[in-house]
Amino acid sequence: MSSTVQAAVPVQVHRTRLVSGVIRSDLNYSTILPRDYYVDEKIFEKEFEKVFSTQWTYVGHVSQVARVGDYFLDNIAGESIVVVRESADRISAFHNVCRHRGHHLCSSESGNVRRLTCPYHFWSYGLDGNLLNVPGSKDGANFDYNDWPLKRVNLEVFHGFIFACLSEQPPASLVEKFSAVSADLETVKTESLKEVGRESYEIHANWKTLLENYLECYHCQGSHPTLCQSMDLQAMFRGTDEWQEPYFTGKVPLRPGVKTVSMDGQLVSKPLGDLQKLDEVPEGFGTGFGIVPLLSRVLIHADHVVVHAMRPLDVGRVKWETRWYVGSDAVEGTDYRAANVAAVWSATNKEDAALCQGAYNGVRSRSFTPGPVDDSRESAIPAALRAYLELMQAD
Ligand code: FES
Ligand SMILES: [Fe+2]
Repeated sequence: MSSTVQAAVPVQVHRTRLVSGVIRSDLNYSTILPRDYYVDEKIFEKEFEKVFSTQWTYVGHVSQVARVGDYFLDNIAGESIVVVRESADRISAFHNVCRHRGHHLCSSESGNVRRLTCPYHFWSYGLDGNLLNVPGSKDGANFDYNDWPLKRVNLEVFHGFIFACLSEQPPASLVEKFSAVSADLETVKTESLKEVGRESYEIHANWKTLLENYLECYHCQGSHPTLCQSMDLQAMFRGTDEWQEPYFTGKVPLRPGVKTVSMDGQLVSKPLGDLQKLDEVPEGFGTGFGIVPLLSRVLIHADHVVVHAMRPLDVGRVKWETRWYVGSDAVEGTDYRAANVAAVWSATNKEDAALCQGAYNGVRSRSFTPGPVDDSRESAIPAALRAYLELMQAD
Protein backbone atom coordinates (compact mmCIF):
# COMPACT_ATOMS: atom_id res chain seq x y z
CA MET A 1 0.00 0.00 0.00
CA SER A 2 2.91 2.35 -0.60
CA SER A 3 0.78 4.43 -2.96
CA THR A 4 -0.78 6.14 0.06
CA VAL A 5 2.63 7.53 0.96
CA GLN A 6 3.08 9.10 -2.43
CA ALA A 7 -0.17 11.02 -2.29
CA ALA A 8 -0.82 13.91 0.06
CA VAL A 9 -3.06 12.50 2.79
CA PRO A 10 -5.34 15.03 4.45
CA VAL A 11 -5.19 14.89 8.21
CA GLN A 12 -7.63 17.75 8.39
CA VAL A 13 -11.05 16.57 7.23
CA HIS A 14 -14.11 18.70 6.60
CA ARG A 15 -17.58 17.16 6.65
CA THR A 16 -21.21 18.11 6.45
CA ARG A 17 -23.21 16.04 8.89
CA LEU A 18 -26.78 15.52 10.10
CA VAL A 19 -26.63 16.21 13.83
CA SER A 20 -29.85 15.90 15.89
CA GLY A 21 -31.92 16.38 12.76
CA VAL A 22 -30.09 19.58 11.77
CA ILE A 23 -27.73 19.77 8.81
CA ARG A 24 -24.36 21.05 10.11
CA SER A 25 -21.90 22.34 7.58
CA ASP A 26 -19.55 23.88 10.14
CA LEU A 27 -18.12 20.64 11.46
CA ASN A 28 -14.40 20.61 11.02
CA TYR A 29 -12.45 17.81 12.54
CA SER A 30 -9.22 15.94 12.21
CA THR A 31 -8.47 12.25 12.20
CA ILE A 32 -5.40 10.13 12.65
CA LEU A 33 -3.84 8.59 9.52
CA PRO A 34 -5.35 5.86 7.36
CA ARG A 35 -4.79 2.35 8.78
CA ASP A 36 -1.98 1.46 6.35
CA TYR A 37 0.33 3.96 8.01
CA TYR A 38 0.24 1.83 11.14
CA VAL A 39 0.52 -1.65 9.64
CA ASP A 40 2.28 -1.46 6.28
CA GLU A 41 5.88 -2.72 6.25
CA LYS A 42 6.80 -0.64 3.20
CA ILE A 43 5.71 2.58 4.89
CA PHE A 44 7.70 1.58 7.97
CA GLU A 45 10.80 1.02 5.81
CA LYS A 46 10.39 4.45 4.29
CA GLU A 47 10.14 6.00 7.77
CA PHE A 48 13.73 4.95 8.54
CA GLU A 49 15.08 7.22 5.86
CA LYS A 50 12.50 10.00 5.92
CA VAL A 51 11.68 10.35 9.61
CA PHE A 52 13.91 8.42 12.02
CA SER A 53 17.14 9.56 10.34
CA THR A 54 16.23 13.19 9.86
CA GLN A 55 15.34 14.47 13.34
CA TRP A 56 17.36 15.16 16.44
CA THR A 57 16.90 12.17 18.74
CA TYR A 58 17.63 12.01 22.46
CA VAL A 59 20.49 9.61 23.21
CA GLY A 60 21.70 10.51 26.69
CA HIS A 61 23.16 12.98 29.14
CA VAL A 62 26.69 14.35 29.54
CA SER A 63 26.98 12.61 32.93
CA GLN A 64 27.29 9.30 31.02
CA VAL A 65 30.52 10.49 29.40
CA ALA A 66 32.08 12.50 32.21
CA ARG A 67 35.71 11.38 31.60
CA VAL A 68 37.69 11.41 28.37
CA GLY A 69 37.25 7.96 26.77
CA ASP A 70 33.85 7.29 28.37
CA TYR A 71 31.45 5.98 25.76
CA PHE A 72 27.99 4.49 25.41
CA LEU A 73 26.12 2.84 22.56
CA ASP A 74 22.71 3.68 21.19
CA ASN A 75 20.68 2.65 18.21
CA ILE A 76 18.87 5.21 16.11
CA ALA A 77 17.04 4.40 12.89
CA GLY A 78 18.38 0.87 13.13
CA GLU A 79 22.01 2.08 13.23
CA SER A 80 24.38 1.34 16.08
CA ILE A 81 26.25 4.48 17.13
CA VAL A 82 29.02 5.16 19.66
CA VAL A 83 28.82 8.36 21.69
CA VAL A 84 32.25 9.10 23.19
CA ARG A 85 33.94 11.91 25.07
CA GLU A 86 36.77 12.86 22.78
CA SER A 87 38.27 15.58 24.98
CA ALA A 88 37.38 17.75 27.97
CA ASP A 89 35.26 19.98 25.77
CA ARG A 90 34.09 17.68 22.97
CA ILE A 91 31.64 14.78 22.80
CA SER A 92 31.38 12.99 19.44
CA ALA A 93 29.33 10.26 17.85
CA PHE A 94 30.38 7.72 15.22
CA HIS A 95 28.81 4.84 13.42
CA ASN A 96 29.84 1.74 15.35
CA VAL A 97 31.17 0.24 12.13
CA CYS A 98 34.81 -0.58 11.35
CA ARG A 99 36.07 0.85 8.06
CA HIS A 100 37.81 -2.45 7.22
CA ARG A 101 35.12 -5.11 6.95
CA GLY A 102 32.41 -3.56 9.05
CA HIS A 103 32.62 -5.32 12.40
CA HIS A 104 31.07 -3.40 15.30
CA LEU A 105 33.83 -1.68 17.23
CA CYS A 106 32.18 -1.77 20.64
CA SER A 107 29.91 -4.47 22.00
CA SER A 108 29.58 -3.40 25.65
CA GLU A 109 26.79 -0.90 26.16
CA SER A 110 29.19 1.52 27.86
CA GLY A 111 32.76 1.75 29.08
CA ASN A 112 35.97 3.74 29.00
CA VAL A 113 38.59 3.30 26.28
CA ARG A 114 41.81 4.98 25.14
CA ARG A 115 41.16 3.94 21.55
CA LEU A 116 38.30 2.35 19.67
CA THR A 117 39.77 -0.98 18.61
CA CYS A 118 37.98 -3.40 16.33
CA PRO A 119 37.92 -6.96 17.73
CA TYR A 120 38.21 -8.56 14.25
CA HIS A 121 41.60 -7.56 12.77
CA PHE A 122 42.42 -4.97 15.46
CA TRP A 123 42.36 -1.79 13.46
CA SER A 124 42.31 0.99 16.04
CA TYR A 125 40.89 4.49 15.94
CA GLY A 126 41.45 7.53 18.14
CA LEU A 127 38.63 9.06 20.16
CA ASP A 128 38.39 11.61 17.33
CA GLY A 129 37.61 8.77 14.90
CA ASN A 130 40.93 8.93 13.05
CA LEU A 131 42.50 5.62 12.06
CA LEU A 132 45.67 5.21 14.14
CA ASN A 133 46.92 1.69 13.57
CA VAL A 134 46.42 -1.18 11.13
CA PRO A 135 48.31 -4.34 12.08
CA GLY A 136 50.66 -5.32 9.25
CA SER A 137 50.11 -2.15 7.21
CA LYS A 138 51.92 1.07 8.02
CA ASP A 139 50.29 4.38 7.17
CA GLY A 140 50.86 5.03 3.45
CA ALA A 141 52.16 1.53 2.68
CA ASN A 142 48.98 0.20 1.13
CA PHE A 143 46.67 3.14 1.77
CA ASP A 144 46.60 6.39 3.71
CA TYR A 145 45.10 6.15 7.17
CA ASN A 146 43.65 9.64 6.69
CA ASP A 147 41.28 8.26 4.06
CA TRP A 148 39.66 5.83 6.50
CA PRO A 149 38.34 7.61 9.61
CA LEU A 150 35.20 6.44 11.37
CA LYS A 151 32.03 7.94 9.95
CA ARG A 152 30.73 10.73 12.14
CA VAL A 153 27.15 11.13 13.27
CA ASN A 154 25.85 14.63 13.93
CA LEU A 155 25.57 15.37 17.60
CA GLU A 156 24.40 18.31 19.68
CA VAL A 157 24.72 18.81 23.41
CA PHE A 158 21.93 21.07 24.59
CA HIS A 159 22.23 22.12 28.25
CA GLY A 160 23.68 18.69 29.06
CA PHE A 161 21.20 16.67 27.02
CA ILE A 162 22.77 14.81 24.07
CA PHE A 163 20.93 14.51 20.76
CA ALA A 164 22.07 12.73 17.60
CA CYS A 165 20.90 12.88 13.99
CA LEU A 166 21.96 10.48 11.24
CA SER A 167 21.26 12.90 8.42
CA GLU A 168 24.23 14.68 6.89
CA GLN A 169 22.09 17.80 6.92
CA PRO A 170 20.48 17.84 10.35
CA PRO A 171 17.76 20.30 11.33
CA ALA A 172 18.75 23.65 12.83
CA SER A 173 20.47 23.76 16.21
CA LEU A 174 18.42 22.98 19.30
CA VAL A 175 19.74 26.20 20.83
CA GLU A 176 17.72 27.99 18.18
CA LYS A 177 14.70 25.73 18.32
CA PHE A 178 14.37 25.74 22.11
CA SER A 179 15.51 29.28 22.87
CA ALA A 180 12.23 29.83 24.78
CA VAL A 181 13.38 27.56 27.62
CA SER A 182 17.09 28.38 27.72
CA ALA A 183 16.79 30.73 30.70
CA ASP A 184 14.91 28.10 32.73
CA LEU A 185 17.49 25.45 31.85
CA GLU A 186 20.23 27.84 32.99
CA THR A 187 18.42 28.24 36.29
CA VAL A 188 18.14 24.54 37.02
CA LYS A 189 21.62 23.70 35.66
CA THR A 190 20.67 20.65 33.67
CA GLU A 191 24.31 19.94 32.83
CA SER A 192 24.68 18.87 36.47
CA LEU A 193 22.39 15.87 36.72
CA LYS A 194 22.84 12.18 37.41
CA GLU A 195 20.70 9.34 36.18
CA VAL A 196 18.93 7.49 39.00
CA GLY A 197 16.56 5.27 37.06
CA ARG A 198 15.79 3.91 33.63
CA GLU A 199 12.95 1.76 32.34
CA SER A 200 12.45 0.29 28.89
CA TYR A 201 9.28 -1.19 27.53
CA GLU A 202 8.90 -3.14 24.32
CA ILE A 203 5.36 -2.28 23.32
CA HIS A 204 3.47 -4.19 20.66
CA ALA A 205 2.12 -1.23 18.75
CA ASN A 206 3.14 0.99 15.87
CA TRP A 207 5.30 3.87 17.13
CA LYS A 208 2.73 6.45 15.95
CA THR A 209 0.11 4.88 18.22
CA LEU A 210 2.44 5.68 21.13
CA LEU A 211 3.09 9.14 19.77
CA GLU A 212 -0.64 9.90 19.55
CA ASN A 213 -1.16 8.55 23.06
CA TYR A 214 1.58 10.75 24.47
CA LEU A 215 0.26 13.88 22.78
CA GLU A 216 -3.14 13.93 24.44
CA CYS A 217 -4.38 13.85 27.98
CA TYR A 218 -7.95 13.05 27.03
CA HIS A 219 -7.32 9.56 28.43
CA CYS A 220 -5.54 10.71 31.60
CA GLN A 221 -8.46 11.11 33.98
CA GLY A 222 -9.72 7.60 33.40
CA SER A 223 -6.39 5.85 33.01
CA HIS A 224 -3.68 7.69 34.95
CA PRO A 225 -4.93 8.18 38.54
CA THR A 226 -1.36 8.50 39.84
CA LEU A 227 -0.28 11.15 37.32
CA CYS A 228 -3.52 13.09 37.87
CA GLN A 229 -2.75 13.52 41.57
CA SER A 230 -0.10 16.11 40.71
CA MET A 231 -0.96 17.20 37.15
CA ASP A 232 -3.56 19.90 36.45
CA LEU A 233 -5.66 18.10 33.86
CA GLN A 234 -7.58 21.09 32.48
CA ALA A 235 -4.35 23.06 32.10
CA MET A 236 -2.82 20.05 30.36
CA PHE A 237 -5.61 20.11 27.76
CA ARG A 238 -4.78 23.75 27.06
CA GLY A 239 -1.04 23.06 27.23
CA THR A 240 -1.07 20.47 24.47
CA ASP A 241 -2.70 23.10 22.21
CA GLU A 242 0.72 24.75 22.20
CA TRP A 243 2.50 21.67 20.89
CA GLN A 244 1.88 22.57 17.26
CA GLU A 245 5.46 22.56 16.06
CA PRO A 246 7.73 19.52 15.63
CA TYR A 247 10.13 21.16 18.12
CA PHE A 248 7.92 22.39 20.94
CA THR A 249 8.31 23.65 24.49
CA GLY A 250 6.03 23.22 27.48
CA LYS A 251 5.81 21.76 30.94
CA VAL A 252 3.58 19.49 32.98
CA PRO A 253 1.15 21.93 34.66
CA LEU A 254 0.78 21.20 38.36
CA ARG A 255 -2.28 21.37 40.59
CA PRO A 256 -2.37 24.16 43.19
CA GLY A 257 -0.06 23.43 46.12
CA VAL A 258 1.82 20.72 44.24
CA LYS A 259 5.60 21.19 43.99
CA THR A 260 6.59 18.41 41.63
CA VAL A 261 5.28 15.34 39.86
CA SER A 262 5.36 12.78 42.66
CA MET A 263 3.00 10.47 44.52
CA ASP A 264 2.10 13.14 47.10
CA GLY A 265 3.05 16.32 45.22
CA GLN A 266 6.00 16.97 47.54
CA LEU A 267 9.63 17.13 46.41
CA VAL A 268 11.34 13.77 45.84
CA SER A 269 14.87 15.21 45.71
CA LYS A 270 16.64 18.46 46.58
CA PRO A 271 15.80 21.43 44.32
CA LEU A 272 17.85 21.66 41.13
CA GLY A 273 20.52 24.27 40.44
CA ASP A 274 19.79 27.84 41.49
CA LEU A 275 16.40 26.84 42.93
CA GLN A 276 18.41 25.74 45.99
CA LYS A 277 19.21 29.39 46.69
CA LEU A 278 15.56 30.26 47.15
CA ASP A 279 13.74 29.96 50.47
CA GLU A 280 10.91 28.18 48.71
CA VAL A 281 10.51 26.45 45.36
CA PRO A 282 8.26 28.70 43.23
CA GLU A 283 4.70 27.39 43.00
CA GLY A 284 4.08 25.54 39.75
CA PHE A 285 7.70 25.62 38.62
CA GLY A 286 8.43 23.49 35.58
CA THR A 287 9.66 23.61 32.03
CA GLY A 288 10.45 21.26 29.20
CA PHE A 289 10.77 20.65 25.52
CA GLY A 290 10.02 17.93 23.02
CA ILE A 291 10.43 16.71 19.48
CA VAL A 292 7.84 14.99 17.28
CA PRO A 293 7.01 12.90 15.37
CA LEU A 294 9.76 10.56 16.61
CA LEU A 295 9.23 11.53 20.22
CA SER A 296 11.98 12.78 22.49
CA ARG A 297 10.54 14.58 25.53
CA VAL A 298 12.37 16.28 28.38
CA LEU A 299 10.32 17.27 31.45
CA ILE A 300 11.99 19.43 34.05
CA HIS A 301 10.53 19.74 37.51
CA ALA A 302 11.89 21.64 40.49
CA ASP A 303 13.75 18.63 41.86
CA HIS A 304 14.11 16.05 39.08
CA VAL A 305 14.06 15.53 35.34
CA VAL A 306 12.22 12.90 33.30
CA VAL A 307 13.17 12.04 29.72
CA HIS A 308 11.09 9.86 27.41
CA ALA A 309 12.34 8.59 24.05
CA MET A 310 11.11 6.03 21.58
CA ARG A 311 12.87 3.66 19.19
CA PRO A 312 10.67 1.99 16.56
CA LEU A 313 11.69 -1.68 16.23
CA ASP A 314 9.36 -2.89 13.52
CA VAL A 315 6.00 -1.83 12.15
CA GLY A 316 4.19 -3.29 15.16
CA ARG A 317 6.80 -2.92 17.90
CA VAL A 318 8.42 0.05 19.59
CA LYS A 319 10.79 0.54 22.49
CA TRP A 320 9.70 3.20 24.96
CA GLU A 321 12.36 4.34 27.37
CA THR A 322 12.10 6.64 30.37
CA ARG A 323 15.05 7.96 32.36
CA TRP A 324 14.99 9.85 35.64
CA TYR A 325 17.63 12.34 36.77
CA VAL A 326 18.26 14.30 39.96
CA GLY A 327 20.88 16.95 40.73
CA SER A 328 24.44 15.58 40.68
CA ASP A 329 24.88 16.79 44.27
CA ALA A 330 21.85 14.90 45.62
CA VAL A 331 22.65 12.02 47.96
CA GLU A 332 20.70 8.76 47.78
CA GLY A 333 18.89 7.95 50.99
CA THR A 334 19.29 11.52 52.28
CA ASP A 335 17.98 13.72 49.47
CA TYR A 336 16.15 11.15 47.37
CA ARG A 337 15.13 7.54 46.94
CA ALA A 338 15.29 6.37 43.35
CA ALA A 339 12.01 4.45 43.61
CA ASN A 340 10.18 7.59 44.77
CA VAL A 341 11.62 9.69 41.93
CA ALA A 342 10.43 7.13 39.37
CA ALA A 343 7.11 6.17 40.97
CA VAL A 344 4.62 8.30 39.01
CA TRP A 345 5.95 7.71 35.50
CA SER A 346 6.72 4.09 36.23
CA ALA A 347 3.02 3.56 36.97
CA THR A 348 1.97 5.78 34.06
CA ASN A 349 4.23 3.97 31.57
CA LYS A 350 2.65 0.63 32.43
CA GLU A 351 -0.82 2.10 31.99
CA ASP A 352 0.17 3.67 28.65
CA ALA A 353 1.80 0.46 27.40
CA ALA A 354 -1.44 -1.43 27.98
CA LEU A 355 -3.55 1.33 26.38
CA CYS A 356 -1.34 1.52 23.30
CA GLN A 357 -1.31 -2.23 22.79
CA GLY A 358 -5.08 -2.28 23.20
CA ALA A 359 -5.55 0.53 20.69
CA TYR A 360 -3.16 -1.09 18.23
CA ASN A 361 -5.09 -4.34 18.41
CA GLY A 362 -8.03 -2.41 16.99
CA VAL A 363 -6.01 -0.41 14.46
CA ARG A 364 -4.73 -3.72 13.03
CA SER A 365 -8.31 -4.82 12.36
CA ARG A 366 -9.17 -4.54 8.67
CA SER A 367 -12.43 -2.93 9.83
CA PHE A 368 -10.58 0.05 11.33
CA THR A 369 -11.09 3.51 9.91
CA PRO A 370 -9.70 6.56 11.71
CA GLY A 371 -12.18 8.35 13.96
CA PRO A 372 -12.52 12.05 14.76
CA VAL A 373 -9.95 13.70 16.98
CA ASP A 374 -11.26 16.06 19.68
CA ASP A 375 -9.59 19.35 18.81
CA SER A 376 -10.22 20.77 22.28
CA ARG A 377 -8.17 17.99 23.89
CA GLU A 378 -6.14 16.26 21.19
CA SER A 379 -5.02 19.08 18.90
CA ALA A 380 -1.35 18.15 19.21
CA ILE A 381 -2.03 14.89 17.36
CA PRO A 382 -2.97 16.28 13.93
CA ALA A 383 -0.14 18.82 14.22
CA ALA A 384 2.40 16.04 14.79
CA LEU A 385 0.92 13.90 12.02
CA ARG A 386 1.14 16.82 9.60
CA ALA A 387 4.81 17.19 10.53
CA TYR A 388 5.22 13.46 9.94
CA LEU A 389 3.63 13.66 6.48
CA GLU A 390 5.83 16.61 5.56
CA LEU A 391 8.91 14.56 6.40
CA MET A 392 7.61 11.55 4.50
CA GLN A 393 6.94 13.65 1.43
CA ALA A 394 10.17 15.66 1.57
CA ASP A 395 12.72 15.10 -1.20
S1 FES B 1 36.60 -5.56 10.40
FE1 FES B 1 37.53 -4.24 11.80
S2 FES B 1 39.62 -4.67 11.68
FE2 FES B 1 38.73 -5.96 10.19
FE1 LIG C 1 -0.98 8.25 28.90
